[in-house]
Amino acid sequence: MRIEELLALYASHAAVDSQEMLARALSLPADIRDGSERYSTLVDKLPLPRDPESVIVAGMGGSFIGGLFLQDALYEESSKMIIPLRETGLPGSVNERHLLVAVSYSGNTEETLRVVLEARRRRIPTVAVTSGGLLAKLATEWKIPLVEVPSGLKPRAAFPYMCTALAAVVEAAGLVDGLMLKLKEAAGFLENVKQEVLDAGNSLARWLFEQYEAGNFPVVYSYRPFLSAGYRLKTQINENAKLHAFFSEIPEANHNEIMGWEGPFRFSAVIVRAPGEPPYVHHRMEFLRELLRGRGVKHVEVHAIGENQLQKLLSLFYAFDIASILLALLRGTDPAPTATIDSLKKYLEERIDISREI
Ligand code: F6R
Repeated sequence: MRIEELLALYASHAAVDSQEMLARALSLPADIRDGSERYSTLVDKLPLPRDPESVIVAGMGGSFIGGLFLQDALYEESSKMIIPLRETGLPGSVNERHLLVAVSYSGNTEETLRVVLEARRRRIPTVAVTSGGLLAKLATEWKIPLVEVPSGLKPRAAFPYMCTALAAVVEAAGLVDGLMLKLKEAAGFLENVKQEVLDAGNSLARWLFEQYEAGNFPVVYSYRPFLSAGYRLKTQINENAKLHAFFSEIPEANHNEIMGWEGPFRFSAVIVRAPGEPPYVHHRMEFLRELLRGRGVKHVEVHAIGENQLQKLLSLFYAFDIASILLALLRGTDPAPTATIDSLKKYLEERIDISREI
């Protein structure tokens, strides 16, 4: 289905898309290109220690996913570990030989700010990625290198900017070469396969909608180096469509969770696949599919497309982001607001004033 036809198909639902989240999701290739152009100049400019022992990428929710994406993207290539962290503190083993990248789109997320405070106490080199808030203010005051991302977006919709900003940081720190160029090239690839990705996103949205209508909640199965894509689908369904969805990792789920398919269940399954799976992955995924078929579990496979890891990973992100927004529209739900998250943040703000701890 052509983009215009797709938009026409969803036109009657699109009225609820108050912040044009669908248009934003569709522009992922353009945003990746824009981000890689904006931040590529930072590679030679950011005052960072070269060759840190590892890079810790701290953030929550929409500001966490970029670190997980980067870990998958560079799983085989990076000379050092990239460790995504979604906690209020730093493990004791992190010291001044590591590099911390603190990512918070709003700049006001308490968990991430606590990590930054702890890093300052332990003199751990830090970079901030944010659109503003307290994190930007602290970065300026404390002379922490600051990478600004465009403001006015939902954090999850700023993924292309946050992931290209992160890529510039790890390239500047010497973990990998030519990453910004590869991201730009992957953006071109995504433009070329837009139609295919759109069709995959649309059929996944419709399939998920039917499953939810039938009372079946999805478990998304994924494996390294595509964990971030599977996890992205789960969290995008949560935040955009306001529905439960669960995420599971192969091979670990083979050693415990698959037993659940022996009992009664109200779940469906989405299985992430990619070309070039090594045999030790391929056989496990085939077993899973046969197991689900045998137990009568409604399931669907989504296949990455592309020649290299970045292309494959981004093709999944692209399809999943679109699917989660179309699912919201099919339900007549506005994808943008996250009222329950907002009320939690307000509740915490009334009780904890992190700015007084600085
Ligand atoms: C995504 C979203 C949340 C936030 C998370 C952390 O759109 O709204 O997942 O990303 O609550 O907030 P930030 O990103 O501002 O640090």
